[in-house]
Amino acid sequence: MLDRLDPLRQFRQRFYQTKGEIYLCGHTLGLASIDAEKSLNDLLELWKKEGVSIWMKNNRKYVKYSSLLAELIAPLIKVQPDEIVISGSCTSNIHVAMCTLYKPTSRKYKVLVDDINFSSDRYAVDSQVRLKNLDPRDAVKVVHCQGSFMDEDLIINSMTEDVALLLLPVVYYKTSQVLEMKRICEKANELDIIIGLDVSHAIGVIDLDLQVLNIDFAVWCTYKYLNGGPGSCAGLYINKKHFHLMPGLAGWYGNKDETRLQFKQEFDHQKNANGWQIGTPCLFSMAPLQGSLEIFNEAGIKNIRKKSLRITAYLMYLIDKKLVRYGFNVGNLREDEKRGGHVCVVHVDARRISLALKSRGIVTDFREPDIMRVAPIALYNTYEEVYKFVEILLDIMKRKTY
Ligand SMILES: Cc1ncc(COP(=O)(O)O)c(C=O)c1O
Repeated sequence: MLDRLDPLRQFRQRFYQTKGEIYLCGHTLGLASIDAEKSLNDLLELWKKEGVSIWMKNNRKYVKYSSLLAELIAPLIKVQPDEIVISGSCTSNIHVAMCTLYKPTSRKYKVLVDDINFSSDRYAVDSQVRLKNLDPRDAVKVVHCQGSFMDEDLIINSMTEDVALLLLPVVYYKTSQVLEMKRICEKANELDIIIGLDVSHAIGVIDLDLQVLNIDFAVWCTYKYLNGGPGSCAGLYINKKHFHLMPGLAGWYGNKDETRLQFKQEFDHQKNANGWQIGTPCLFSMAPLQGSLEIFNEAGIKNIRKKSLRITAYLMYLIDKKLVRYGFNVGNLREDEKRGGHVCVVHVDARRISLALKSRGIVTDFREPDIMRVAPIALYNTYEEVYKFVEILLDIMKRKTY
């Protein structure tokens, strides 16, 4: 019934389902779609036919490919397309942004982070601090999470005059917690703190509005909810108020398009986010994104969020009803505005149980110490799959086959 009434149900057939499995792992690697396959094949065919002329074809589409993808991504985060560049990885984009925007002075030099964000972000921050000859033990100010969830007030109260930049996630990769960004950003703006957000677990699943937050930069992976394929190029948002700045890491693809092929020795950067592109676009890591993003625009992010909230609520309901007696509990915040796209199914034996599930054709993942992350994806999972997942989990528990 729920599936019959689902307005997004027709999108499932555009995705390849992994063989005989119920795939609930789109928060880590989204599934391949027919649309992504087509945009990838278009590129391959053109390369086969045209060789180097590929760059000149279709009004130089592939030279400007990042801009085309930016047009498709912009509605998901509500910024101008020229504020987005698609290149590198999420981590390298933190470096790219910080190399331009992190300008420590003797008074204002600290970077505010928290201790439950994805590790790679912290590695990037610490190394950026070291590059400025500062000691991360002094210059990286860490907000320590008390308990399982981050308290926004702890972050806000840590914003002292010496903080130059902050880097925070919008949705926590492990607990699915959505931070109340409006409050955090208002305070940071008041104190002239450069705001950087990692929206990897938010983009494509929650309805983001980065414009309203008045942030300085954002980074994100495109292989999770955006279904761009393993290692697909990441995103970087640079607020247009920074377009005049000289990119900290320059390269010829950041040079103005009109003069790039004059190969002048002096860098003349594009006065938009493309100025932060460095080398030749990695076309094969970008092409599947085109098809995939077209699906998002067809479906609409508001509809996607609506279904994601309903289907994750359904999963939480089934856990409460059927699995609590087997030692399970829901490990994420339950309020709609506080949970992202995955549900945390918590159990002391979660690691072994997730392996047992895999052997029964259910794909989830495990995060220390006791969390199974389970993501029913709006575009390609069904309510029936969620129901089956819970039934199989019950069977594993009853028969103790874990
Ligand atoms: C929240 C978050 N940030 C950053 C990364 C790292 O991304 P990349 O490997 O593209 O640098 C990940 C990877 O899963 C992530 O989940």
